[in-house]
Amino acid sequence: MKILFYNPWPNQNKWILSIKKKFVGYQIYTLKDKFKFEDIECAIIWNLPDNIFKKLSRLKVIFSLGAGVDHILKLPSYKDTPIFRIKDTNMSKRMFNHILSQVLYYQLKLKKFENGKIKKQWLEEEETLLNQQITIGILGAGFLGNEVGKNLKKLNYNIIGYKNSKNNTKIPFEVFTKNQIDIFLKKSDIIVSILPATLATNNFIDKTFLQKMKRQGLLINVGRGNSINEKHLIKHLIKHKDFYVSLDVFKNEPLTKNHKFWDLPNVTITPHIAAVTDIESSVNYIFKRINSIKKVKKIKSEVNLKKGY
Ligand code: GLV
Repeated sequence: MKILFYNPWPNQNKWILSIKKKFVGYQIYTLKDKFKFEDIECAIIWNLPDNIFKKLSRLKVIFSLGAGVDHILKLPSYKDTPIFRIKDTNMSKRMFNHILSQVLYYQLKLKKFENGKIKKQWLEEEETLLNQQITIGILGAGFLGNEVGKNLKKLNYNIIGYKNSKNNTKIPFEVFTKNQIDIFLKKSDIIVSILPATLATNNFIDKTFLQKMKRQGLLINVGRGNSINEKHLIKHLIKHKDFYVSLDVFKNEPLTKNHKFWDLPNVTITPHIAAVTDIESSVNYIFKRINSIKKVKKIKSEVNLKKGY
């Protein structure tokens, strides 16, 4: 099987070395190699430009190098090639660490002490909430959401989830669905959005959503930037100074220098690093998957192409 590997990441050489080491007996190409585009049957990619993608005329399967697949579905030349995405617990462990850091920063009021340090102020001590006094709502209880929720629950936080469609997967916490968003928002002190980018999630977090959240709440977005109406959020943050957001993903990345988010004191910004794909475990995952599908006549997409995740 001839495989094209592409990602534009700074550690791409590490990826290539790892893939070539694992995929013995396979022909692995990068854009630097000489090969015929029409010979490629499998593409392992992240953000492949459409002018390259459209040349892969005999592609049988695509592996996304992350949890999201929006970078593939948005390609003008993409039709219906089966897609697999990374489902890796190392990725969810990274995401959990990131979320926990943001929860604790808020819960322990560390921002206040950071500001105090700038002004050389020894601030009064005050009681902070205990984990069991905080309810965290996981918006988008899929693979990553479940793993993160499970781990937060072990630390005694109260965990609830929200999912567009309830399916049969066992989720170890209470999950609300479509017409129950109001209860979900009312119960949550902190909302963690792990929503994928689809038409259904576009601007899902808008002024109505924000107004239903707790006034002194925290919103963490580690899903996709499309789900937030940024104008509505900015207005909300200006009006409610004790409402906090921690944003890892944005409508347009990188965030432009003149974006209002940079100036707001109640916003934490990280550059899409909450769940960096783990090289070794992902290469092993893809290798296993390819081995199990290479003899199959018709490959069934793991990603639901209609739903977009
Ligand atoms: C990161 O955003 C991913 O989709 O893995």
